[in-house]
Amino acid sequence: MKKAVASLAVAIVFGLTSMSFAAGNTPATPKKLTKQEVQKLRDVFDNYGCSGCHMYMHKDSTSGPAVAVIAALAKAKPEKWVISWIMNPKPHYSEPDVKALIHQYVQYMPNNGVTKKDAKKLYDYLMAVANGDAK
Ligand code: HEC
Repeated sequence: MKKAVASLAVAIVFGLTSMSFAAGNTPATPKKLTKQEVQKLRDVFDNYGCSGCHMYMHKDSTSGPAVAVIAALAKAKPEKWVISWIMNPKPHYSEPDVKALIHQYVQYMPNNGVTKKDAKKLYDYLMAVANGDAK
């Protein structure tokens, strides 16, 4: 029985894979960024000091969730919310899910003085990470 389930799973995965190849292997993301574009966005992330608390390599740190983690968090929320958070997190501190993160990291993300234009770039960077187009 287990064997039958396993081979069914293999068949499904194989089927989906060949389907995506047949469809030209189109990525799920609407716009695929070039390496240079991703690097430019990552520079914005570094220049604002985001990477001081959000680590690329480590899964997590005591100062904040890892980049991959905040990318996933950001993807799960409306773009407007994420932009607002990046520009000024404080008004969101009392939201239940944010409260849980604050409790977990024993830290409040500060206001980093991000402009609206750069907040959009940071959002795009996080989406590139969440979609596997950037690290
Ligand atoms: C001083 C450390 C620190 C810096 C600098 C920092 N963060 Fe954070 N960030 C945190 C912490 C800690 C959390 C978890 C929520 C909390 O405790 O406030 C967080 C959470 C987040 C989240 C997830 C929010 C959610 O609840 O879904 C995003 C997105 C994020 N940060 C983006 C950024 C960006 C972009 C920058 C740079 C402009 C940045 N952070 C700079 C510490 C930091």
